[in-house]
Amino acid sequence: MASNKKLLVLPGDGIGPEVVNEVLRLIDWMAKKRSVSFDIQEGKVGGAAYDADGTPLTDETMADAVHADAVLFGAVGGPQYDDLPFELKPERGLLRLRKEMDLFANLRPAMVFDAMADNSSLKRDLVAGLDIMILRELTGGIYFAEPRGIEDLPDGTRKGFDTNLYTTPEIERIGRVAFDLARKRESRVTSVEKANVMMSGVLWRETMTKLHAAEGGDIQLNHMYADNCAMQLVREPKQFDVIVTDNLFGDILSDCAAMLTGSLGMLPSASLGAEDPTTGRRHSLYEPVHGSAPDIAGKGMANPIAELLSFSMLLRYSFDMAEDADLIEAAIQKVLGSGLRTSDIMQDGMARVSTGVMMDSILQALNKMTS
Ligand code: IPM
Ligand code: MG
Repeated sequence: MASNKKLLVLPGDGIGPEVVNEVLRLIDWMAKKRSVSFDIQEGKVGGAAYDADGTPLTDETMADAVHADAVLFGAVGGPQYDDLPFELKPERGLLRLRKEMDLFANLRPAMVFDAMADNSSLKRDLVAGLDIMILRELTGGIYFAEPRGIEDLPDGTRKGFDTNLYTTPEIERIGRVAFDLARKRESRVTSVEKANVMMSGVLWRETMTKLHAAEGGDIQLNHMYADNCAMQLVREPKQFDVIVTDNLFGDILSDCAAMLTGSLGMLPSASLGAEDPTTGRRHSLYEPVHGSAPDIAGKGMANPIAELLSFSMLLRYSFDMAEDADLIEAAIQKVLGSGLRTSDIMQDGMARVSTGVMMDSILQALNKMTS
């Protein structure tokens, strides 16, 4: 069956290939049971690409990503690549994809599944039912701005430096995405920066305030310093609906929010570009929040749920297939509710299962729900 859904799959390193493989089983299931087909291409990224081609991302794979309707990404990195020169490190492959596909909007939902509320390091009542969305600006700020470098100083010492820089259009476009996301949720946005010490933060706050006055009449906007936000996330996380912030603060705060849920192995993310006004298409890449977990790679222990949920975000945001996404999420809830757990989310009284058995059970649940 010919398909108009072009998917580039980039498994990467560590547990990446294992969890992506489980999504491919789900895709097979969808072809058989839902008559949905994807045109799937596979590529290499990170250490896997370095081993094969001497670079963490070839120009060919980069071009494939730009031409795909969506990219499904696993994870990159591993200790064997730690000593590579900066530009050859596995992470550079991911950063190049983000930059060249202009994936400026990174959606990182942090939600607590009912069956998992006791897994958090916080008390149950602080996190039960938690559902917040961290929106991280992904193509600007200190991750990319120039100048950056390491230089020798006349006195024989050295300096290392980076630049944090945001322009008003960059802030406005991420701000608009925040408002749009909030409209489908509780219509509340917290904009996070450090306007008390950083000029880029002053501009961020001013620009968000103006954007809100012009376009956000239906949104409740408040501003918060990043350090306070970190504290509030562990004090009373349910106060938040959408948090919008820059690249670096978003990196840090999203790890913090992820851990609140007690299940890093269960959190997906979507990175989206701007919508093309004529075709309505947008570049997109979906990846789990967790990394390559080299310590458990190859052992069949990885939790496939974050990758599965990343795929369900892909269905929702790139292919408008909310019904299928809902179905997958419901099957996952069901299996968790039945007490199956991979090692990372194991609790007393539950049954520890491998990656493959977790997936078998999810497919069985899907079979039951659709028969
Ligand atoms: C993330 C990761 C990346 C980042 C690394 C792997 C480059 O931590 O996606 O949060 O810092 O953005
Ligand atoms: Mg990170």
